[in-house]
Amino acid sequence: MNEVVKLERHDVIGIVTVNSPPVNALSAAVRGGILECIKSAIADPEIKAIVLTCAGRTFIAGADITEFGKPPKPPGLHEVLTEMENSPKPIVAAIHGTALGGGLEVALACHFRVATKDARLGLPEVKLGLLPGAGGTQRLPRAVGPELAVKMIVAGDPIGAAEALKNGLIEDIVEGSATGGEAFARKVLAEKRPLRKLRDDNSKLAAAKADRSIFTNAVAALTKKARGLEAPFAAADAVGFAIDLPFDEGLKKERESFLKLMMGDQSKAQRYAFFSEREAAKIAGVPEGTKARNVERVAIIGAGTMGGGIAMSFVNAGIPVTLIETGEEQLKRGMGVMQKNYEATAARGGIPADAPAKRLGLITGVVGLENVRDADLIIEAVFETMAIKKEVFAAVDKYAKPGAVLASNTSYLNIDDIAKVTSRPQDVLGMHFFSPANVMKLCEIVRADKTAPDALTTAVAVARKIAKVPAVVGVCDGFVGNRMLAQRGKQAEKLLFEGALPQQVDAVVTRFGMPMGPFAMGDLAGLDIGWRSRKDRGIKSEIADALCEAGRFGQKTGKGYYKYEAGSRAPLPDPEVEKLIDETLQRLGRKRRIVTDDEILERMMYPMINEGARILEEKVAARPSDIDVIWLYGYGWPIYRGGPMFYADQVGLKHIADRLSFYAKETNDPSLEPAPLLKQLAAEGKTFASLAQTAKAA
Ligand code: 3HC
Ligand code: NAI
Repeated sequence: MNEVVKLERHDVIGIVTVNSPPVNALSAAVRGGILECIKSAIADPEIKAIVLTCAGRTFIAGADITEFGKPPKPPGLHEVLTEMENSPKPIVAAIHGTALGGGLEVALACHFRVATKDARLGLPEVKLGLLPGAGGTQRLPRAVGPELAVKMIVAGDPIGAAEALKNGLIEDIVEGSATGGEAFARKVLAEKRPLRKLRDDNSKLAAAKADRSIFTNAVAALTKKARGLEAPFAAADAVGFAIDLPFDEGLKKERESFLKLMMGDQSKAQRYAFFSEREAAKIAGVPEGTKARNVERVAIIGAGTMGGGIAMSFVNAGIPVTLIETGEEQLKRGMGVMQKNYEATAARGGIPADAPAKRLGLITGVVGLENVRDADLIIEAVFETMAIKKEVFAAVDKYAKPGAVLASNTSYLNIDDIAKVTSRPQDVLGMHFFSPANVMKLCEIVRADKTAPDALTTAVAVARKIAKVPAVVGVCDGFVGNRMLAQRGKQAEKLLFEGALPQQVDAVVTRFGMPMGPFAMGDLAGLDIGWRSRKDRGIKSEIADALCEAGRFGQKTGKGYYKYEAGSRAPLPDPEVEKLIDETLQRLGRKRRIVTDDEILERMMYPMINEGARILEEKVAARPSDIDVIWLYGYGWPIYRGGPMFYADQVGLKHIADRLSFYAKETNDPSLEPAPLLKQLAAEGKTFASLAQTAKAA
């Protein structure tokens, strides 16, 4: 009927097919096409039942997110769904791939639903800072009961076809969606099944109406970790409307909440994060069509903290790993850590009971670098010392097969220098994972001077395959994330010399939404590492040094910037630390002053943003959104604040530049002067986002 939706008739069955790649999102054209086809099918006297199905890789994956925040185009999704639900002829949704968000809401407005066995169904709107806005919060509880519905809507995680069948979300599992849907529609006609309109079916709401605790307990468990987010709470309330209110009233309330969230700052930030993550996988400056090399086996050198976590990430995705160590003892220790980790996850029910053995079975632990021979990708995760890295890469160069990609997990070292010791610098790059590597999603892919485009494409593709979020960066000290973090660390330390306490600084940072403040993070990582490195370089940091001299190395010694009770990781403010800071300041002849929370927030955030501007100037990151992705997935930046560069645009670059200049003078720190790019954008009244738009237009 239009270019993206068509109606065909197979004798008495009308087949409506949506074909709008890549994911059949509900754009205005798709909504219009469905409405028109459904109306025509209803009007066609030959058609007795209708099947709604999709071409391509998936059923409708949701509303078209690119339309959000723009003036709405008719027809609205509600109008389409009302037409469908009120159809006098049965409509069967035939699902394959992912029926998500508005896609599942379309299916819920049909009278019957069938799905292929690998299909996934869900309402993930909450992940975009939204709630389902087309009846999902009202129809899903009627389909599966409020307990499962609230879980699916507040957590936003989809369920598989088997679970959907068990809970009454679909009526059958079929072989192919279109053919299976058609066969099911014939069955409906043959059996003269009555039309099932979810809006009129309150049977599954009765239990929660009688005993509200079923619902409230589920909500309490689900919102426990939703600190700072608005959408999960609004979504839970909306499911409550389904229990308490007649369908039409519930629908109206759902719509109001949806619109409020959609216009709000949090959803704007979360939608930005969604597209930024996908944008980051597109590598700037690599010729279009550059193919990734084939990666079937990976070798990881070093079975320590990082090597072990990286190995787990690969075998979790089914990719076999050769894990290489210097000796049997080190190998045994590394394998033991992984085993314990998997077993703990299995005991919690996070993975099936047989998964630990299966996954560990994919890891071959060996001694000797000659064992890299079979690997298509080799990731080095040995000690952070240039001499050792060079030694390892020289040996790998000798043994690796031609075309293998050679990656270093270094946090700071220069990949160009590492590449130089090999005869194949075109194959060398950085793959900087974050700790714990089996959990953290970020992988900074470091492009060195000579890295070949297809080596880069391979690293990005592999990272996505193992469910990481890749972001390509250039060579510099600490790459993007740690380089910016260093600016925050520097200010955090300076604040102690001016009168703030660790707990005050950390509280400001966590209230902002970060999972941890700089001092709690230091305690977790271990203060002795920095202390040793300062000693090596002949640098002093009076307070941090004094802590280490007192044996306070952080969590591992039960004391650092905080104290820790035995077996606990909860940081407790320690009067001894305050005393130690006072004494240090007295010794240095410094006076404590009152530092406000506002100043702390500005000095924690703005210097990082300033460094981000320098990073963009130097082209170490191609896009501001890449920097944001790094902070969202590597450092726990709160998703509802979009990332540091997005946040900077919200605050206003002129304000940030002015405050940086102020602090540069006030604290006598020229490094705080605004970067030229920041200054320029501020003077022109522009945003960081404008850089991305200019780049796209070019
Ligand atoms: N709207 C617009 N574009 C979308 C989209 C959507 N809902 N979902 C995906 N896309 C785009 C992506 O941006 C990407 O574009 P690109 O190729 O130009 O970068 C392309 O489709 C492919 O997406 P992925 O790279 O993510 O492909 P995958 O195969 O890895 O994943 C997916 C497919 C599981 C469908 C994933 O894209 C996804 O989770 N999409 C979002 C689903 C969602 O959140 N739906 C709810 C939307 S809100 C809503 O429906 C409101 C309603 O209640 C009214
Ligand atoms: P680690 O000390 O826990 O592990 C290093 C392992 O490498 C040890 O088990 C050691 O026996 C092994 N090893 C040393 N030389 C070797 C060789 N020639 N051949 C084979 N194995 C060898 O160190 P960690 O923390 O895992 O760090 C590894 C790398 O990852 C470093 O470059 C580090 O900077 C980087 N990194 C560390 C992060 C962290 O939080 N720990 C985060 C991101 C990167």
